[in-house]
Amino acid sequence: MGYDVATVRAQYPALADGRAWLDGAAGTQVPQTVIDAVAQTYRTGVSNQGAPFEASSRGTEIVAQARRAVADLVGAADPRGVVFGPTMTALTYRFATVLGATWRTGDEIVVTQLDHDANVRPWVQAARRAGVIVRTAAVDPRTAELPVEEVRALLGERTRLVALTAASNLVGTRPDVTAITAAARETGAVSFVDGVHHAPHAHVDLPALGADLYATSAYKWAGPHLAAVVAPHPGLLEALHPDRLLPSPDTVPERFELGTNPFATLAGVVAAVEHLAGLDDAARGTRRERLAISRRSAGVHEDELGSQMLAGLAATPGVTLYGPPSAHTPTAYFRLTGRVPADVAEALSARGINCWHGYAYAWELAGALGLRESGGAVRTSVNFYSTAAEVDRLLDAVNQLVAGR
Ligand SMILES: Cc1ncc(COP(=O)(O)O)c(C=O)c1O
Repeated sequence: MGYDVATVRAQYPALADGRAWLDGAAGTQVPQTVIDAVAQTYRTGVSNQGAPFEASSRGTEIVAQARRAVADLVGAADPRGVVFGPTMTALTYRFATVLGATWRTGDEIVVTQLDHDANVRPWVQAARRAGVIVRTAAVDPRTAELPVEEVRALLGERTRLVALTAASNLVGTRPDVTAITAAARETGAVSFVDGVHHAPHAHVDLPALGADLYATSAYKWAGPHLAAVVAPHPGLLEALHPDRLLPSPDTVPERFELGTNPFATLAGVVAAVEHLAGLDDAARGTRRERLAISRRSAGVHEDELGSQMLAGLAATPGVTLYGPPSAHTPTAYFRLTGRVPADVAEALSARGINCWHGYAYAWELAGALGLRESGGAVRTSVNFYSTAAEVDRLLDAVNQLVAGR
């Protein structure tokens, strides 16, 4: 049959509540297979790694499977490059600390105005500790684009890091990551790419993106709350020595992970990757091949809905849209004339529509757009389980609000 949104939706118990779920950019719901994988792990029994009994071996096997699954998801050849952590924010602080320890006074790093603060502040704070200069690449506030030149112009022989998002969680901008990571590489800088809002909407191909480190959070793509940073070349991890407990493993990637891994959650991550690989039920081949087919099919659907949503909002008098930039995820960020965004989100919720308001931690971008002090805007987003009916419902509701009903 191929990709069929009704078939996909039927797998998500939470979506049956009759509401329009246009809040996926803040986290998706999970399919039954993920719920079952988590529950089954606890039901069967799982114990900490390293003991001579079966439940312990199961823990070890789940961790290995989860590394392979995430490596497949992002196109990394070696699962030893996959580091797990509780959230992208926590992992970025971890990497900022360990990379920051290699910087010298007078070195430089580049962050961007497009990024979620989780890919800005950990680096800025590490830079302050190390006496490192922070350069910030500016967004064009009219288009919400981040031109490659803005980043390239800030690079120099002392640049040690470029922290860049692959997709803005606020306006959906997808900058030219490949060009920027290539420029970073030429100067010898490490690139840390935030894929938290990117991976839910793209077939991620790390070698093509050229990122040295790529962060993703499973709860944005049908998985449980858990994040990973992936190094396509574990050699980068081999060269780094994060703080760790003395008795804990000194191997890669284990030495980057703190304490006991969440085995049941990791089983849910494996199920989520399998779910994404099966979004198009005609997809065949290895899991990576099925991911490529499924995610492209879902991408066509998402792009249609995204265009419907953005065109509908743009055509509604009294709606101000921020962006959309030329390359973007299906995300809309908008205000209604004379209405406070929080009140709009509240009114949409009263009409059965789940969406966000504010600036979703995109602190620099909200400042660049001039929205930080005035309540940000309303954000709606669609994904692989969204429907045209949900978007229609949003557009109808916005029209009613504009008309004062
Ligand atoms: C683009 C982006 N980066 C980073 C984060 C932070 O992710 P986490 O909640 O896993 O720390 C988010 C969360 O919304 C995000 O959207």
